[in-house]
Amino acid sequence: MPSSRSLSHDLGISRNTVVSAYDQLLAEGWLSARQGSGTWVAEGRAFDSVVDALTETGRHNDLIYDMSPGTPDLSGFPRAAWMAAAKRAITDAPDTRLGYGDPRGTLELRLALAEYLGRTRGVVASEDRVVICSGAVQGLFLSLRTLAEFGIDTVAVESACFDISRQQIDRADMDLVPLSVDHDGVRVDQLIRSRAQVVLLTPAHQFPWGVPLSAERRGQVIRWAQATGGMIIEDDYDGEFRYDRRPIGALQGLAPDHVIYQGSASKALAPGIRIGWMVLPEPMVKAITALRQTIDLHTGVFEQLALAEFIRAGAYDRHIRKARLRYRNRRDQLAAMLDEHAPHVGISGIAAGLHALLTLPGDLTIERDTLARARDVGLSLAGLSRFRCEPKDSDQGGLVVGYGATPNHSFPAALNLLRRILPARVAGA
Ligand SMILES: Cc1ncc(COP(=O)(O)O)c(C=O)c1O
Repeated sequence: MPSSRSLSHDLGISRNTVVSAYDQLLAEGWLSARQGSGTWVAEGRAFDSVVDALTETGRHNDLIYDMSPGTPDLSGFPRAAWMAAAKRAITDAPDTRLGYGDPRGTLELRLALAEYLGRTRGVVASEDRVVICSGAVQGLFLSLRTLAEFGIDTVAVESACFDISRQQIDRADMDLVPLSVDHDGVRVDQLIRSRAQVVLLTPAHQFPWGVPLSAERRGQVIRWAQATGGMIIEDDYDGEFRYDRRPIGALQGLAPDHVIYQGSASKALAPGIRIGWMVLPEPMVKAITALRQTIDLHTGVFEQLALAEFIRAGAYDRHIRKARLRYRNRRDQLAAMLDEHAPHVGISGIAAGLHALLTLPGDLTIERDTLARARDVGLSLAGLSRFRCEPKDSDQGGLVVGYGATPNHSFPAALNLLRRILPARVAGA
């Protein structure tokens, strides 16, 4: 069992509460305590049998371990530092700040982000090119609608990508061109041959395959944009989390006039904050701001001021450093588990981000069966096919496993469940 200190921290409850819950479970015989080696599930009541019992009684829906991609560890949210930043921001803000604000976002946050993104992601940004939005999802919505107003009707995307991005392209009534992805990232030669005027990419850590775009392909896509007047939408959704080598800078830094750069606080802090940002080519700033204004005027001022103060005070950097260590450790545990128990399952995309791609030994049938087993034991997972533009039954099965969402205390249990639901090695494979 996790230590009472770690569990109370993750759940945000007092340590005494955890200690009395443990005492109760000890008294009922569910747990046993060994002097000097912590608290354990009692012999004969091992974790697997609890899961079996829940599965048999159909109570598994009560037990949800979240290994779906896209959510960071919310139990690690830096509440105290955030409250300090919010308190300072609200205390300092004059009454006039409570009125309608600038649709581009507050100057404080645009300045803080211009500095932060330049320093950490190599983004070329001045505050007048930064526009704040409600998450990267709204950023993409605004970009697509504005590009449509400019006469763009075809967008190329990586052949597996974030499903909401694809839905947005559909809803904007644009044609979608899927581009293959190999170990160097997206196939730019296919983009060059297509009639797309815009390409949506995740260059730092392709979602969901996890490969970074190679230096050569970066050069190719930039040259395509410069030669054709094309536009690149760069979704830098988890660019801050890179583990084994130096971070890969944003594409935007290579051609700021041809890249719509999008980022957000969703992976670094929490998606519930709903703050994202765009760094735009100059001609797009006015059009995107005007569109934003007609939709909902602007993002909440207090949240923006709090985030600006949080970044300015260095708390964002400190949080990222801490979170990076935590996720790297989990990534290592996931890789070690597969190495030991399921070497026939491939793992890739693990140099960065909050998810890994597991390749299954078989086609979509095996993916569906694996997901069904995961549901039965209360483990939430995403199949690779969900993100494919054109899924086919013959596609290799895969799981997109997020190791961010589960709090520290239940990560070992989630990993244990994952081990149990993975398919067995296929004879002869
Ligand atoms: C690849 C990718 N892009 C963008 C987003 C959306 O982020 P936001 O919460 O900032 O709208 C996600 C969220 O899961 C994502 O996985």
